Amino acid sequence: MMLVKYHFTVGFALSFSSLVSACLREFNSEHVHTHRKPILRRQAVWPPVLTEQETILSNSFDANSIDDWAKYYGNQVKLAGLGREAAEWTRDRWAENGFTSALKEYHVYLSYPVRQSLAIAYSNGTRAEVHVQEPALAEDPVTGREDAISNFHGYSASGNATAEYVYVGRGTHADFTRLVELGVELEGKIALIRYGSIFRGLKVKNAQDHGMIGAIIFTDPGDDGNVTVANGYEAYPHGPARHPDAVQKGSVLFLSTYPGDPTTPGYPSVEGAPRADTSSVTPQIPSLPISYAAVLPLLQALDGHGLEASQVNRTAWKGALDAEYRTGPAPGVTLSLENLMEGKITPIWNVIGYINGTNPDETLVIGNHRDTWMIGGTGDPNSGSAILAELARAFAKLTATGWKPRRNIVLASWDAEEYGLVGSTEWVEEHVNWLTETAVAYLNIDVAVSGPRPSLDATPELHTIGTEIMKKVVHPNAGGFNISLYDAWQRESSTGSGRHVGVLGSGSDYTTFLHRGVSALDVGSSGGAGDPIWHYHSNYDSYNWMSKFGDPGFKVHAAMGQYLSLLALHIADDEILPFDLPNYTEELRGYYEDLRDLIGDETLDTSELAAAIDVFEKSAKQVKELETLAKTWKDENLIKVVNKKYRDFQRGFVSQGGLPNREFYRHVVTAPGLDTGYAAITFPGVSEGVQYGNLTVAAEWVSKTAQGILRAAAILKT
Ligand SMILES: *[C@@H]1O[C@H](CO)[C@@H](O)[C@H](O)[C@H]1NC(C)=O
Ligand SMILES: *[C@@H]1O[C@H](CO)[C@@H](O)[C@H](O)[C@H]1NC(C)=O
Ligand SMILES: *[C@@H]1O[C@H](CO)[C@@H](O)[C@H](O)[C@H]1NC(C)=O
Ligand SMILES: *[C@@H]1O[C@H](CO)[C@@H](O)[C@H](O)[C@H]1NC(C)=O
Ligand SMILES: *[C@@H]1O[C@H](CO)[C@@H](O)[C@H](O)[C@H]1NC(C)=O
Ligand SMILES: *[C@@H]1O[C@H](CO)[C@@H](O)[C@H](O)[C@H]1NC(C)=O
Ligand SMILES: *[C@@H]1O[C@H](CO)[C@@H](O)[C@H](O)[C@H]1NC(C)=O
Ligand SMILES: *[C@@H]1O[C@H](CO)[C@@H](O)[C@H](O)[C@H]1NC(C)=O
Ligand SMILES: [Zn+2]
Repeated sequence: MMLVKYHFTVGFALSFSSLVSACLREFNSEHVHTHRKPILRRQAVWPPVLTEQETILSNSFDANSIDDWAKYYGNQVKLAGLGREAAEWTRDRWAENGFTSALKEYHVYLSYPVRQSLAIAYSNGTRAEVHVQEPALAEDPVTGREDAISNFHGYSASGNATAEYVYVGRGTHADFTRLVELGVELEGKIALIRYGSIFRGLKVKNAQDHGMIGAIIFTDPGDDGNVTVANGYEAYPHGPARHPDAVQKGSVLFLSTYPGDPTTPGYPSVEGAPRADTSSVTPQIPSLPISYAAVLPLLQALDGHGLEASQVNRTAWKGALDAEYRTGPAPGVTLSLENLMEGKITPIWNVIGYINGTNPDETLVIGNHRDTWMIGGTGDPNSGSAILAELARAFAKLTATGWKPRRNIVLASWDAEEYGLVGSTEWVEEHVNWLTETAVAYLNIDVAVSGPRPSLDATPELHTIGTEIMKKVVHPNAGGFNISLYDAWQRESSTGSGRHVGVLGSGSDYTTFLHRGVSALDVGSSGGAGDPIWHYHSNYDSYNWMSKFGDPGFKVHAAMGQYLSLLALHIADDEILPFDLPNYTEELRGYYEDLRDLIGDETLDTSELAAAIDVFEKSAKQVKELETLAKTWKDENLIKVVNKKYRDFQRGFVSQGGLPNREFYRHVVTAPGLDTGYAAITFPGVSEGVQYGNLTVAAEWVSKTAQGILRAAAILKT
């Protein structure tokens, strides 16, 4: 994932969502204040009872063959635009299992590293190189290959910067606001920024917006909980702690403004397409990622200079390294950052495979990206890629019995997700009319496994089916006994009073589907307190790490694959789409209460929005009643009517013209926060108007949001 989403504790101020495949963890992350109703834990039937078709799919998942697929992907160069071989291999695996499969090429703008370096010069004239590359590990040969890709930030600006530097914490909007308030000198300096909490591109954007001329983003072991070298754990490859030299690569596109090829906003990047200027969505200052070992002397050089951490008084300001985490600058201590990039328009390859349904008017899309920043990427995203290869095989077993899906099933292996959801966005832009006519849902699996704890984000009509299917899958519990995936998921509830399905923000390929009005779900499994540290976007996210630490035996992979295939079976083949519309109303009410909290004492009339939710509630109840009638009478026409309403109602939430200053994002109920990039904000037009103190915009969006909800209600109305 280009992101890996991040479970973070937004203060009271955003309407929250989850975090999910947390790559950078913070603990107890569910203690966010929200009025959304948790899903109470219910006793599941144990052991699960499966139908004949569910049994065929489930039994087909073989941890050993998933291990083979993971090994294959874990040894391929798959950097966007360089991964044709893995695309062809993926196509062949799907094709041999009955999916009509082909490569789909786009010509997109990407940037590649040419020369990257960093040096520090002290005031006494001593100069030292700072290591920006990760060492090869003898125990993990893939990290030492000659064709290994060096560390860089995708879409970063090419250029040199030499200046004193300032530590700016996580580099959020709030961090910068605080530094400005305290009079810290930012203009003309280089920003030293801690990874975590928001999408990295927005960190660079914030630095750029404050007149800074370069950015260094570092990993801090303070985000690893107790599993650290300082706490006595051995580092990878000898133990579960983070390798001190591990670097998080990644894109610095301004994701919350526009994902997809930045040269073709709103239209597909076919060869010869007109190209737009990218300067409003890519940084104009150079940046580089570094490890915690590399940043240590840089932080220490600031000791004694600038403001103390306690004066700055910002959350997560101080990390776990042996330094004071003062702002600096240290007079006369400078960084020289060199970042030579090569930008070009170059082919990328999605793989698209499908089986036609008996009803051509309804389509389920299941997708995973294939591209990686490194040769490995066995967690992100090839745990999902290995599962899709196995899922194709499972469906072949089902079709061998004569089964045909009611709805079309499309499998997608996206390229260039890491740069900014590029492959999926261009494909959706090319097929938007057909998707608008036929798509019933998009299921995403990106980091299927980076640890044993399942997570689920989805649009609300999928919450019921999404959690019910979890009850049908056995989770390989490390304790030696088996529990359901549902119980494993519920167990992660920090309050013990039930769990929330997360709200979709961004950071993976569901984004463009959702913002064109398609129901969407994103599933994965990650580590938490006490689990081995996953090296997100590092060369050490490798097959060796996965097979020794992440998921020895690939059993969690198998469970996630069983889950995805059973969910796909139901959405593709149930006579009536398994959507729960009354639950959508419940969620809307929760978001509404969260919004009222955010508004607090400000004067903003939201009655139009409240009234729209009442109308939606009525339509949702009616369609549920109609569904019951259709089932009771087994009335083909009525069944068609209900399916059509379920397929189409999300289209109503899409607002023409999009959100303020970011027309790509059109869903009126949820979007990635403008300042977060990953985490969702609900009723984004209204909430962000309030957050940025523009009540005119907020009032305008009360109305636009209400209209979107009324459009959806009208589609459901019977
Ligand atoms: C210069 O300062 C750095 C940082 O304090 C120190 O490591 C280095 O030894 C000093 N060099 C000389 C020549 O004093
Ligand atoms: C950037 O810095 C490198 C290394 O210090 C130097 O070789 C190169 O000439 C510089 N490039 C520009 C454009 O200044
Ligand atoms: C630090 O911030 C907290 C919360 O914002 C506030 O309650 C506290 O008074 C601040 N402390 C100082 C020393 O400014
Ligand atoms: C699937 O359906 C589409 C549209 O109805 C048709 O063009 C295509 O040939 C079909 N493919 C297969 C393999 O049946
Ligand atoms: C759906 O709504 C019902 C009724 O409010 C609630 O009990 C249940 O927990 C909800 N289920 C989900 C999956 O949100
Ligand atoms: C747990 O499940 C696995 C696979 O489903 C099975 O082989 C094993 O016997 C089960 N273990 C227990 C203790 O029930
Ligand atoms: C870390 O260890 C301490 C002491 O054993 C424990 O109290 C704490 O809950 C642990 N924290 C996490 C996040 O595991
Ligand atoms: C609010 O936003 C609107 C539209 O972008 C803008 O015209 C107006 O000046 C803003 N008002 C304030 C107080 O920022
Ligand atoms: Zn990914």
